Amino acid sequence: MVESFKKTFFITTPIYYVNDIPHIGHAYTTIIADAISRFKKLSGKDVFFLTGTDEHGQKVEKSAAEKGLKPIELADKVVFRFKNLWKTLNISYDYFIRTTQPLHEKGVQKIFQKLKEKGDIYKGIYKGYYCVSCENFLSKDVPIEEESFKTCPDCGKKAGVVSEECYFFKLAAYQKPLLEFYEQHPAFVRPQGRMNEVINFVRQGLKDLSITRTTVKWGIPVVDDSDHTIYVWFDALHNYLTGLGYDWDMKLFDKFWPATLHLIGKDILRFHAVFWPAFLIAAGFSLPQTVYGHGWWLKDKSKISKSKGNVLDPHIILNTFGADSLRYFLLREIPIGLDGNFSHEAFIHRVNSDLANDLGNLVQRTLTMIQSYFGGAIEEIDEENEGDKKIRLEFESVKENVYKYYEGYSLNKALEETWVYINSINRYLADNEPWKIARDKTKQKRLGRILYQAAAALKAISYFIFPVMPESAEKIWKYLGEEKPIQEELFTDLQFDNFKLGQKIQKPKPLFPRVNLEDFLKEEEDKSAQATKEDKMEYISFDEFKRMDLRAGEILKAEKVEGTQKLIKIEVDIGTEKRTMVAGIAEEYAPSDLVGKKLVVIINLKPAVIRGIESQAMLLAADVDGKAIIPFFIEDVPAGAKVR
Ligand code: ME8
Ligand code: MG
Repeated sequence: MVESFKKTFFITTPIYYVNDIPHIGHAYTTIIADAISRFKKLSGKDVFFLTGTDEHGQKVEKSAAEKGLKPIELADKVVFRFKNLWKTLNISYDYFIRTTQPLHEKGVQKIFQKLKEKGDIYKGIYKGYYCVSCENFLSKDVPIEEESFKTCPDCGKKAGVVSEECYFFKLAAYQKPLLEFYEQHPAFVRPQGRMNEVINFVRQGLKDLSITRTTVKWGIPVVDDSDHTIYVWFDALHNYLTGLGYDWDMKLFDKFWPATLHLIGKDILRFHAVFWPAFLIAAGFSLPQTVYGHGWWLKDKSKISKSKGNVLDPHIILNTFGADSLRYFLLREIPIGLDGNFSHEAFIHRVNSDLANDLGNLVQRTLTMIQSYFGGAIEEIDEENEGDKKIRLEFESVKENVYKYYEGYSLNKALEETWVYINSINRYLADNEPWKIARDKTKQKRLGRILYQAAAALKAISYFIFPVMPESAEKIWKYLGEEKPIQEELFTDLQFDNFKLGQKIQKPKPLFPRVNLEDFLKEEEDKSAQATKEDKMEYISFDEFKRMDLRAGEILKAEKVEGTQKLIKIEVDIGTEKRTMVAGIAEEYAPSDLVGKKLVVIINLKPAVIRGIESQAMLLAADVDGKAIIPFFIEDVPAGAKVR
């Protein structure tokens, strides 16, 4: 087993935008990072795992405005959703950075000032196209033409014109240092193909990069020039420093920097493989070891994304299957460099066949047999025969390979290898037929040996799947009567014979339910219809509700507004005074029917002038296909009574 020399391992995910709630794509990156972190800990590394949220910029500003919220209110809501999802998925991050935290803002300002003093940042005018969805200045020199937008080559949305004073970062000056760095670190970007893309891009030449905006308010202000806010990508990338303690816990920072692995999707490779190292070189930091740009989950051949609106809510799967099934599927189905197509069919097929059948059955029958033939503990065993020995030897090679695959971030291979072993054990049991041997009382030791091999292998299997399926792994580990937590066993210390004779195993509960595809799809459809409804519902707080002054009012007079079809002018008594209001209810109610009726009116709505009449209150009515139906009080309530 080749181990890299450094003792620490600093791993990051992108910090996700808070313009909308998390989906499968975000879960994917974060699950990969979690599995790698857990593996690295098993292999004896001191790990720091950072994730968080990217909260500034035009995209979030816009989305908040559309939802009628302040950007920070939207951020708070979405952060809550992210943290909840990470908890449900058993994500073991060490720190969650939000770019609206003062410690982050200060760090970014400090580095900005440093680069400005150094002369790497200067003032100028930017004129070009900007894609809000990607938060990206279109990189090609596009002349500004008559038309007010271009199509963004990355996401296909409209990129509008930006023309304003800004600060530039001298990116062009870093072309040479970057190319030298890539040359010396050919594995800086992985997979290899993406390294080549990056090198080609930089070879074509770099333009200085605009890194402030004056027309975007929701951002970190530039010190001493607060008309400018810092460009969201300059702000966001520095989370990898501030989230690790830069400028507030330098001991932590010095221990873990530089990053060992920036895990990202290929959509944001250029920011991480070109801009980010250039910023770092400029500010004098050492450079990350690896930027890994993984592939995309697609649905019907199109990238799953918030802006495309084809997102899959992980909660629907999680409620039925639990975290491990989703973690397993996402990591098993594709190598992390390639794209994958997400379908519920493929998901259920894998879960039923790999988890419920192969692994679930192995656990169930091994433990049940030990329970019923030996009262829960194997005391005596035969010498190994050839077949038994093969199981032990296979353990050695599987261990070696699983380690190697995890080390190379080939998580799917590590799982594949483990499943080959699972199926070997299943075959071994089928061939040896312990259930038949159990009938012969003279063959107790032979029976003991068979079940011992299966249990010892199972222990190793639970260990191998732990990075990807921590919950199930811990359960199996415990069922086998292991006392110390799985995390305390180092990968190198794992031995087949560590499974002790006389160790008391527990009765297992089924680990993975078998789910019928049709039932699930039906249920999923119902739930997602429900979820869409809930997501569209914008909640208000009780305080916001209380701001409405609702009263019982009594109608004193009512008459049609002349020259209109629908309007009735009403005089209403609200206890303390009389108010005039205009309501569009003439098609449903005759004025004479209204007089004397009592109803609910809102009295602190801003008055509006309708057909020359000032309407000083508004009545409430149900909208039934465009018809207004007024709820009148049946009981006698005094005019002016508060309604709440
Ligand atoms: O880009 N398949 O945030 P973001 C796989 N704030 N992974 C996917 C995916 C999909 N269909 N969709 C999203 C940003 N992802 C910036 C990052 S970092 C300093 C700032 C994952 O909310 C993938 O990791 O758009 C991708 O890179 C990331 O989510 C983008 O998240
Ligand atoms: Mg995105």
